[in-house]
Amino acid sequence: MRPTTNLLLTLITISIFPFFTNGTLQPQHQHAHGGGCNPDERAALLSFKEGITSNNTNLLASWKGQDCCRWRGVSCCNQTGHVIKLHLRNPNVTLDAYGYDHACASASALFGEISPSLLSLKHLKHLDLSMNCLLGPNSQIPHLLGSMGNLRYLNLSGIPFTGRVPSHLGNLSKMQYLDLGQAGDYSDMYSMDITWLTKLPFLKFLGMSGVNLSGIADWPHTLNMIPPLRVIDLSYCLLDSANQSLLHLNLTKLEKLDLSWNFFKHSLGSGWFWKVTSLKYLHLEWNLLFGKFPDTLGNMTYLRVLDISYNGNPDMMMTGNIKKLCSLEILDLSGNRINGDIESLFVESLPQCTRKNLQKLDLSYNNFTGTLPNIVSDFSKLSILSLSNNNLVGPIPAQLGNLTCLTSLDLFWNHLNGSIPPELGALTTLTSLDLSMNDLTGSIPAELGNLRYLSELCLSDNNITAPIPPELMNSTSLTHLDLSSNHLNGSVPTEIGSLNNLIYLYIGVCIVCILPDGSSVSTWASAAENQCT
Ligand SMILES: *[C@@H]1O[C@H](CO)[C@@H](O)[C@H](O)[C@H]1NC(C)=O
Ligand SMILES: *[C@@H]1O[C@H](CO)[C@@H](O)[C@H](O)[C@H]1NC(C)=O
Ligand SMILES: *[C@@H]1O[C@H](CO)[C@@H](O)[C@H](O)[C@H]1NC(C)=O
Ligand SMILES: *[C@@H]1O[C@H](CO)[C@@H](O)[C@H](O)[C@H]1NC(C)=O
Ligand SMILES: *[C@@H]1O[C@H](CO)[C@@H](O)[C@H](O)[C@H]1NC(C)=O
Ligand SMILES: *[C@@H]1O[C@H](CO)[C@@H](O)[C@H](O)[C@H]1NC(C)=O
Ligand SMILES: *[C@@H]1O[C@H](CO)[C@@H](O)[C@H](O)[C@H]1NC(C)=O
Ligand SMILES: *[C@@H]1O[C@H](CO)[C@@H](O)[C@H](O)[C@H]1NC(C)=O
Ligand SMILES: *[C@@H]1O[C@H](CO)[C@@H](O)[C@H](O)[C@H]1NC(C)=O
Ligand SMILES: *[C@@H]1O[C@H](CO)[C@@H](O)[C@H](O)[C@H]1NC(C)=O
Ligand SMILES: *[C@@H]1O[C@H](CO)[C@@H](O)[C@H](O)[C@H]1NC(C)=O
Ligand SMILES: *[C@@H]1O[C@H](CO)[C@@H](O)[C@H](O)[C@H]1NC(C)=O
Repeated sequence: MRPTTNLLLTLITISIFPFFTNGTLQPQHQHAHGGGCNPDERAALLSFKEGITSNNTNLLASWKGQDCCRWRGVSCCNQTGHVIKLHLRNPNVTLDAYGYDHACASASALFGEISPSLLSLKHLKHLDLSMNCLLGPNSQIPHLLGSMGNLRYLNLSGIPFTGRVPSHLGNLSKMQYLDLGQAGDYSDMYSMDITWLTKLPFLKFLGMSGVNLSGIADWPHTLNMIPPLRVIDLSYCLLDSANQSLLHLNLTKLEKLDLSWNFFKHSLGSGWFWKVTSLKYLHLEWNLLFGKFPDTLGNMTYLRVLDISYNGNPDMMMTGNIKKLCSLEILDLSGNRINGDIESLFVESLPQCTRKNLQKLDLSYNNFTGTLPNIVSDFSKLSILSLSNNNLVGPIPAQLGNLTCLTSLDLFWNHLNGSIPPELGALTTLTSLDLSMNDLTGSIPAELGNLRYLSELCLSDNNITAPIPPELMNSTSLTHLDLSSNHLNGSVPTEIGSLNNLIYLYIGVCIVCILPDGSSVSTWASAAENQCT
């Protein structure tokens, strides 16, 4: 499925924020039952170790000596000394060019197989082998895992298995957390039948991201038979509809539902999930849902995160009572070509009760028009504000300088004019500021030099004039600086040498040299040539 992903990514230029999992491996020291571990279990662990072929000895280096309860990643029950937990997650995942994780490209991964010797760990409740390259001889999820009947937690996420997900996992009747997800990508795993899930009556967490479930039409009915579910991640599952009707909703504890990157082509309002008023996180990005929000949206008062980006759905905002969503912290409606006036969006559509809660607002790649209202500064917790690629006009309000939690401000590709307000220099936590491709004039405010954490500054393709203020070179965190395609003049401040974190520099400054006879010549030059010859 990678080609489809590539195509979508190139159709609309988006920035990818790579995300890292920050799990850590801690040695476990908990045993008070008299020292030493069960010899059979110790032998089983050593046999498991033999199935590991990588020569990265970091992870299993401590796996020697008598007391296996002291080995890294192994936990025993205090009372009985039995091994109850194996936590061998690889915390260091590498990212490919698209930001996806690849266990088998990671130097710190375990390679090899999930050895059948694990079956001897009869008391094991918790098994985390995520982000390793434990594919074994046939690259499939081993059926034998279905015999580890004491497991409550099984995490195989990020192991790039192929083939059918074995229904044997339905034997794990105590299971509470089952994570087979492929960390944000389509995989070569599939299932034609997930009814075995209904044999897991205690399941709270289901992660099957990336598993091809395209043949399964009645998946919501199956999930509805597992009332304890709190988290469901079926992103990238090639599902084609979510508009099944559920007569009686049993999923009253569901808090997080991720159905992003599927192929839903029906009306937004017909989704079964709008009945789930307990939801706090709803992800529907990268589908093809059309039409407006349903009125039932008004009942989803616990909703903190609503992401319906990149559905190409200009009509979603038409009605639907978004005003009651007082818990909203993240609203992402980017990539939908929504028409509308930005001022009435801020003043009328966004719930007044979220003004002190909203942390991320992404309305980029839409068709909002009008002028940014001063009221934007009432959204005092905003950390990410993205309004790029719309049709906004008028000045950048100085009041934006009151949003002191902002870490990222994206206003590029609009028709904003006037000068850059020096008040933006008060945004001391800003790491990224992109005002490129507008009609901004005036000079670069020296105050931007106060932004010590700023790593990306993009002001290209405007009509900014005057010399580059030397104060800007106080922003020593800058890694990307693009001031190109403006009408800057003067020389590049020699202080540019203090920007020693720069990876990308594009200035294209017009250097004006005053010659001894008083006349001047101007040339376009790169930063490297910032001296008069
Ligand atoms: C087991 O013992 C360790 C160390 O003595 C202690 O920190 C831990 O809480 C105990 N665990 C249980 C489940 O009793
Ligand atoms: C051990 O690592 C070296 C260098 O990284 C590699 O060339 C070699 O093939 C590895 N050996 C095994 C058994 O994985
Ligand atoms: C992960 O990376 C850190 C820093 O590079 C290193 O100290 C640590 O040992 C690595 N962990 C493993 C399991 O390889
Ligand atoms: C499984 O492991 C991954 C990565 O190691 C982690 O991000 C995820 O939260 C884990 N799943 C559960 C249910 O704990
Ligand atoms: C586990 O489940 C599979 C298929 O669902 C079944 O054939 C098998 O007998 C079960 N194994 C055990 C040990 O219960
Ligand atoms: C997904 O599975 C279906 C059968 O269930 C198959 O027809 C289809 O080719 C698979 N899609 C991909 C991308 O693997
Ligand atoms: C869930 O709801 C359905 C109706 O959609 C009902 O038939 C079923 O018995 C319920 N299942 C559980 C486990 O509550
Ligand atoms: C919201 O919930 C109430 C109580 O459960 C229900 O009566 C009402 O019909 C719901 N509103 C909508 C628009 O579904
Ligand atoms: C965007 O908005 C402008 C001004 O309202 C309008 O002329 C244009 O047709 C809209 N574009 C799209 C794709 O809806
Ligand atoms: C918001 O910014 C404006 C203009 O910069 C300023 O006059 C006003 O005092 C600020 N308001 C608050 C509450 O900080
Ligand atoms: C840019 O600014 C200059 C002088 O400030 C002005 O003459 C010119 O028309 C402007 N160009 C554009 C494209 O706005
Ligand atoms: C910022 O830069 C200016 C000129 O380069 C310098 O005079 C000033 O001391 C710097 N300010 C700080 C706080 O470093």
